[in-house]
Formats: sequence, structure tokens, C-alpha cells
Amino acid sequence: MITDTEVKEILSDYISDSKVQEMKLYIQHGCVSTYEHCNNVAQLSYKIDKKLSLHSDLNVLLVGALLHDFYLYDWHNHKKEERLPHGFTHARDACKNAVKYFDLDDRTKRVISCHMWPLTLRSLPKAKEEWIVCLADKCVSLQETLFTRHH
Ligand SMILES: [Fe+2]
Ligand SMILES: [Fe+2]
Repeated sequence: MITDTEVKEILSDYISDSKVQEMKLYIQHGCVSTYEHCNNVAQLSYKIDKKLSLHSDLNVLLVGALLHDFYLYDWHNHKKEERLPHGFTHARDACKNAVKYFDLDDRTKRVISCHMWPLTLRSLPKAKEEWIVCLADKCVSLQETLFTRHH
């Protein structure tokens, strides 16, 4: 969960939005909701940026991180044969939803649409904010998968 005041301040308008809150209804990994997962990715992205003194645009970094999995469905409900496409398509769906509900610039949109690289081979991260979220998502996903269990 988010502990840094700076992160909370930047994300407060988004966090309080009912559509972002809807991510609490969907499970990401183990017993972690998509909402919690996105908060974890935002928190870790912030830590990576600070630790490595990368001086990212924090609005782009944190809003992109919070909305990176804003696809608004539970992929566990999909049939086994449909699960593979989720990996390839959800970044695009998340970006579409993000644009539908929020006024985002191109840099933030790219953070969302590049986060599944290298699975989505052609969406190679370029900006540092894109790389950070792509990496933070993988670290958080691994941790959530290994260390959380279904209730
Ligand atoms: Fe994702
Ligand atoms: Fe993710």
C-alpha cells in the first residue's frame, strides 16, 4: 500500500474516483485485488525513482502506474484458452479505459500501454517512466504470486 505522502498527494484525485475504486472488485494475483496491485506498483515505481535518482515526471510515473491495469474485469473468470490473450490485450484495454475516464497526456498513456513488454513485443518502453513501471510491475507481480495465497 502507499505510504509516501508525496505519492498520496499526486494520486488522491484518482484514488477517490469510483472507477479506480472499482478495481477493488477484481483479483489480480492470489488474494490481491487489482486496486491493491496498482497501488503497490505505484509505490514501488516511486521508490525505484528515488533510490536511483532518476528524476522522473512523478505525475506521469504515478498516474501511469496506478492506471496500468485499469482494464476493469476479472481475468480469472475467463476460460483457460482466453487467458493467454489477456496478457497481450489488457494493456491496450487499460489505456482505453484510462483515456475514457481521465484526461491523460501521451506520456502517461505510453506508460500504461508499454507495461507488458516484452510480452507485447512491439510496445518497447522508451522513456524512463515507462521502464520503471514495466519493471516495478514485474517485481510486484512476482511477489504477489509467490507470497500471497488464496483465502
Ligand atoms: Fe498488466
Ligand atoms: Fe500489473
